[in-house]
Amino acid sequence: LPPPSRIDVTAGGTRTLRASPVVQDVLGGGLGLTTPVWGFGQNGSRRGSGTSVSYPGPTFVAVKDRPVHVHWVNELPFRHLLPVDTTIHWAFQHTDYTIARNGVPSVVHLHGGHTDPQSDGHPDAWYTVTGTHGPRFAGTRFSYGNTQEAATLWYHDHALGITRLNVYAGLAGFYFLRDRHELSLIEDHKLPSGPYEIELVIQDRMFYPDGRLAYPDIPADSPDWPGGPSVQPEFFGQVILVNGKAWPYLDVEPRQYRLRLLNGSNSRFYRLSVDGSWPFPVTQIATEDGFLYRPLPLDAPLVISPGERVELVADFRGLRGSQFTVTNDAPTPFPDGTPVAPPADQVLQLRVSRPLDQKVPEPRLPGTLRKAPFTVDKPPARTRQLLLFEGTDSFGRPRPLLGTVEKGGLAWSDPITEDPALNTAEIWEVFNTTPDTHPIHLHLVRFQVLDRAPFTADQDPRTGALTNIQVGEAQPPGPGEQGPKDTVQMPPGQVTRIKALFDKRGLYVWHCHILEHEDNEMMRPYQVT
Ligand code: C2O
Ligand code: CU
Repeated sequence: LPPPSRIDVTAGGTRTLRASPVVQDVLGGGLGLTTPVWGFGQNGSRRGSGTSVSYPGPTFVAVKDRPVHVHWVNELPFRHLLPVDTTIHWAFQHTDYTIARNGVPSVVHLHGGHTDPQSDGHPDAWYTVTGTHGPRFAGTRFSYGNTQEAATLWYHDHALGITRLNVYAGLAGFYFLRDRHELSLIEDHKLPSGPYEIELVIQDRMFYPDGRLAYPDIPADSPDWPGGPSVQPEFFGQVILVNGKAWPYLDVEPRQYRLRLLNGSNSRFYRLSVDGSWPFPVTQIATEDGFLYRPLPLDAPLVISPGERVELVADFRGLRGSQFTVTNDAPTPFPDGTPVAPPADQVLQLRVSRPLDQKVPEPRLPGTLRKAPFTVDKPPARTRQLLLFEGTDSFGRPRPLLGTVEKGGLAWSDPITEDPALNTAEIWEVFNTTPDTHPIHLHLVRFQVLDRAPFTADQDPRTGALTNIQVGEAQPPGPGEQGPKDTVQMPPGQVTRIKALFDKRGLYVWHCHILEHEDNEMMRPYQVT
């Protein structure tokens, strides 16, 4: 399992990254098949000394308060790799643009970044290779101030209504942000580092027999359907990739490793373990946007939803010669869908096959990883009651929506309802009235998960609006959710409460990170005023 290449911006600086097609050996196994994908690299389709284009893209390594500027160049071709639904609200809707003439719309978002709005990759800030661009286009040079604590950020395409296809084609990569505290933990041998720090992005895919990526190309079941492929309610592929390789193995030494996990899948949740348990010690050390207060030994499978990141320290000491298969048993959709079927129950093999390098000291995790448990201290200026609702569109397809408890489900183009005042904290209580768990993500902020509670209410079947809400007893978030987060699982029938400080002015978005939902209206703008 080759880790992605790294872009060292620890001193800050400016880099150019090109989104471009590339052909890779994704399926491996001596099949002799290759897969056309899209990736990021410094050289694009030309030769040069920087990183060449790869899927996943190269991993940035940046340091707090040292700004990084990225010129994101769109060199995507005049044909999509995958079937595009032109009936949903997407970049080219209500225009006469076509991918064949104008190119593929794309814009990059740094997920988890404390980023100014003009560099945030707003879904309407897309642009194409020909310079065609969306209504919120603000240029192709993005600035990342890196004004937040150490975090596992990632970057990916975010163009309106086509994100699921652009990310599926490969447009995603990691962005590690370090701070002085983390650097001192590394320096003092309290965390595995160097070759013992490994990023792992897990994604499910489907393939044609010739190795090409497959994605459903199915019309909607409606007499009014104009023809062409329809967005699916969710996407679940049977082939599990880690860092762009199908069912890879990782050769490790009998020592501790820092594993930085990202679920970069479109819709699939993973419940990870080794056949239901952990036969070697695994300790969670961080959530998306920072360390947990104390290292948390895992005694149960780890559930990770699309967009979430979890950092683990896995301890293979004394296990030379052992071999473990990391398995997945999360139903699709989660949590009450179809039980996982082989081969999607296999993720990655860990082989403790390498001799121990005695020169490298074995790290010793500290008792605490941050000064105090993470909280958002500022008293809330406001509490909002928000909604997850499943409506239907004019073709009878399920249409997942965000909204408010009073108004019901709202679409992307409806007027803004979430408008926190600059430098105030708010509590968002999100009532999930759908049958599935949705991973909800807010741009700009790192939030605290306060609690979850079951609720009952009367719901207007047409709008989704709720009345007579009765909330049951609240449960604290799981111990692995008590660090700074930007994406959180919101289970069905429950109200999940989060608290955040909105400390940059401007236009941002919040959305479900199931990409088929995000692309089909489960996304709303919000404005810090
Ligand atoms: Cu990872 Cu708005 O997205
Ligand atoms: Cu969703």
